[in-house]
Amino acid sequence: MKILFYGTKSYDEQFFEKLLPQYPDITIKFLEANIHEETATLAAGYDAICAFVNADLGKNVMEELHTAGVKLILMRCAGYNNVDLETAHKYGIKVLRVPSYSPEAVAEHAMALALTANRHTHKAYIKCRENNFALNGLMGVNLFQKTAGIVGTGKIGAAMARICHGFGMKVIGYDAYPNKSLDFVTYVSLDELLAQSDLISLHCPLTDETRHLINSDTINKMKDGVILVNTSRGGLIKTDALIEGIRKNKFFAIGLDVYEEETDYVYEDMSERILPTSTIQRLLSFPNVTMTSHQGFFTHEALSSIAETTLNNAQAFLNGEELKNEVLS
Ligand code: NAI
Repeated sequence: MKILFYGTKSYDEQFFEKLLPQYPDITIKFLEANIHEETATLAAGYDAICAFVNADLGKNVMEELHTAGVKLILMRCAGYNNVDLETAHKYGIKVLRVPSYSPEAVAEHAMALALTANRHTHKAYIKCRENNFALNGLMGVNLFQKTAGIVGTGKIGAAMARICHGFGMKVIGYDAYPNKSLDFVTYVSLDELLAQSDLISLHCPLTDETRHLINSDTINKMKDGVILVNTSRGGLIKTDALIEGIRKNKFFAIGLDVYEEETDYVYEDMSERILPTSTIQRLLSFPNVTMTSHQGFFTHEALSSIAETTLNNAQAFLNGEELKNEVLS
């Protein structure tokens, strides 16, 4: 099986190449370019392509992949909101993903963002480096005995709930499917979660239902001085409403690993470019906003697990075995 990898970085190659000798029937060609309408044609002659969260796998690209003879899309990530499944299924192209690689990697990053945004460690480090040992602007709040509201208590949300519980927080959750393993979590309605939480962490997937879940209306329902963290998908938050909320002093701190306009920039060094939009800069102009570039997954353990599951997915397809990680809808 020949697989064309799109949008690869040196760390992707490193983790896949380490495992590849165990899969003698699979060969990989790594491409730095990401997949979009112009690069999809490069897949001609390959059985499968492998893509990541920032790939364009919309209708036109799917048509190109079908023309190129691709039968399998291997997502080396959990989310698949960027994949036009309807068109893939129309052409019999299977889509496989890595449903779980290290929920703790993302949850630990969510807590890191909450702590950084709250205690300003990113600023304190720079101040110390410049021999500025004054504490102005660095005051935070305790998390101990405060309420953490987890929106979406699946694998990552559950890991975040456990971390918050370990911090001595009261943990409440909102999810249509309560997670029975979380006996310390009290499930409430979304409105109750918004009204009671001191820390809100988003862990539900991006769907038509959850797009702009955080908007002017839901922000108004939050406690004043709330800390908001999003490590899930940028589209969960309506950015204009967030900026309006920040201006109204609604938030004590905000930590974002994902944001609406990230797709064109994420994982790229844009420091020498003039960006066509400035929402990210506008967000970062506020002293209580901290951002990272979709790196919640980025741990050694997670990358090893992603490579192993992706290669197992390819091998299962090749062997005609049951595809337990197929995305059906
Ligand atoms: P999961 O499928 O285990 O859990 C998602 C949970 O959200 C489920 O319990 C589901 O019932 C719940 N949910 C669905 N719709 C909801 C709604 N309207 N309101 C409240 N809850 C709702 O998924 P997992 O593995 O926990 O991942 C969650 C999300 O994290 C992914 O969809 C992805 O967008 C994001 N992610 C981010 C990464 C990063 O690097 N920042 C890496 C991996 C995932």
